[in-house]
Amino acid sequence: MNIVFLGAPGAGKGTQATKVCERMSIPHISTGDILRANIKSGTALGVQAKSFIDKGLLVPDELVIALVEDRLAQQDCAKGYALDGFPRTIEQAEALSKFATIDLAVNIAVDEDIVVDRIAGRRMCKCGESFHTSWYHSDKCDKCGSPLYQRDDDKEETVKARLEVYNKQTAPLIDFYNKQGVLKNVDGMQEMTKVFDDIMEIINDKH
Ligand code: AP5
Repeated sequence: MNIVFLGAPGAGKGTQATKVCERMSIPHISTGDILRANIKSGTALGVQAKSFIDKGLLVPDELVIALVEDRLAQQDCAKGYALDGFPRTIEQAEALSKFATIDLAVNIAVDEDIVVDRIAGRRMCKCGESFHTSWYHSDKCDKCGSPLYQRDDDKEETVKARLEVYNKQTAPLIDFYNKQGVLKNVDGMQEMTKVFDDIMEIINDKH
């Protein structure tokens, strides 16, 4: 099954996509993670992407589309995958439909004031785990022991820009996938385990 996760910044796309992919043994493809890895290793793509990410803006469509097309052509995607953070514009969704068939778009719906708090309290580990200061009180990862850090684009002023960009450029994708008959909405304000259960129920119904 090929799944797209939709939702505002901080809605819980990464948290849920990680768990769903573990359960289904399919690759989790997060364009945000791929771009941040490129920034860290100083590639040409990373250098280009950084100037946009730091301002809370979207990286140009052509760069991200090429990156995803390459990734989906890899062998491990043959039996399905979950896209997290892509597509993010109508142009990206239209391009995706030319090289992939999306079976399910899961929209994780949350109120805007909740996402601001979630992002402000988010702490990351280099192994990919994500925590929140409201329920996690250590500065080290409980999976690998590495020190936790805050993402550069999680500062308040950048978060505001990201939310504006989401409302203008990404929210229209809800309608795009609804019209294609593959959209399912999930209440992302519930506890994480309940959100996960709801998503798995939708996936199992589709099988
Ligand atoms: P990206 O990394 O994709 O960031 P985002 O979409 O802004 O999403 P986040 O990672 O902030 O949130 P999330 O929904 O994954 O939430 P999470 O699970 O971590 O993109 C970053 C940047 O890269 C973009 O701004 C753009 O510049 C660029 N980019 C990426 N893709 C692009 C594309 N396709 N085109 C162009 N540019 C692109 O959860 C958040 C926090 O809440 C965590 O602390 C978590 O523990 C907590 N939490 C989660 N669920 C719950 C819950 N149910 N209850 C309580 N707490 C919860």
